[in-house]
Amino acid sequence: VKIVVPPVQSDTGIKLIPDAQHPFVAPGPNDQRGPCPGLNTLANHGYLPHNGIATFEQLIYAVGEGFNMEHDLASALSALAILGRGNAYINKVSIGFASSEVPPLPGQIDGPTAGGLGKHGRFEGDVSQTRFDIGEGDYKNFQNELYDEFLTYVGRYGDDSPVSGNASVVTVKVMQEYKYHRFLQEQANDPNLEFSIARMIISYDEAAFVVNFFPNGTDNIIDTYTLGSFFRNQTFPENWHRRSSPGDFTFIQTAAANILNAHPLVPGTNQKGVWTPDAPLNTGSVSFTDVHLNIMQSLSSSLVQTEGLLRDNVNTLLQALAKPFGVD
Ligand code: HEM
Ligand code: MG
Repeated sequence: VKIVVPPVQSDTGIKLIPDAQHPFVAPGPNDQRGPCPGLNTLANHGYLPHNGIATFEQLIYAVGEGFNMEHDLASALSALAILGRGNAYINKVSIGFASSEVPPLPGQIDGPTAGGLGKHGRFEGDVSQTRFDIGEGDYKNFQNELYDEFLTYVGRYGDDSPVSGNASVVTVKVMQEYKYHRFLQEQANDPNLEFSIARMIISYDEAAFVVNFFPNGTDNIIDTYTLGSFFRNQTFPENWHRRSSPGDFTFIQTAAANILNAHPLVPGTNQKGVWTPDAPLNTGSVSFTDVHLNIMQSLSSSLVQTEGLLRDNVNTLLQALAKPFGVD
């Protein structure tokens, strides 16, 4: 199947989500769900195929329609999903775990790339907000224990909600403090913590997603009702509207930097429990070139030895992945 970057949608304003055609339908035992509350919610409402197996184009459409994620940002994330954990020949990825519908590419020299977005590495990584690190516990599914800790940070650092009475508002300050807490926790508890630059930045992007894609577009507020709806129940809240303008790469990186800069961190790993900062890649400080390079280092090197249709698809996806970073 030839992969083509779909056209940019012109309809990018505020909108009631879900519409009447996309009611919540709970996943069945054979439907794939995984570590992304955004994609799980979209699949539960049929914006993505309900079985949780999606193409590049379906992912871009769904995150645009449901959350107003801007086209190039959506394309880069979707490209990483298919290249890293899907099958670029048949243009499919599981948003959960390995599926017979997404076989690995033949002849992989460093193991199969398919395995679903729930497979550790390349996309799923450490210091998640509501999932444990691999080796420590369930790194795929929502965890009440972590969510309860998250809520204590909302209580401590959030605002009072003018909308829903006693529900508290998740602020940037909450994300600054909770993400830092999660890092310190895993630095102390996960002897194999992997927090190199790509994972560090992507994990802060995911914190920025919470305060920029989950709020109700009518008032830009995310209170604990809305937070719980997405994280715990993986459904759109009642009377929820997507944001009123597309959220793009620059906007999200700025928001992520704002969260990170409250407690700046250096990228690194725990080596047998000893925190070890990474040697600088290109520039010695956080740069998008380094983030992109580190993402590329994690992909299967066998992808570049491909030919024919697979080669064309890999090229299309690599270009979509590189575009927001401004690298070739
Ligand atoms: C986490 C994939 C779009 C919200 C993740 C993770 C993956 C993923 C693999 C797990 C990373 C980890 O270990 O923490 C994707 C892809 C997307 C996409 C491929 C687009 C094609 C979105 C959107 C939203 C979102 C549109 C919000 C509206 C989140 C959040 C987390 C996350 C909040 C962190 C969960 C946690 O830390 O517990 N995503 N995602 N994602 N995603 Fe997505
Ligand atoms: Mg994780």
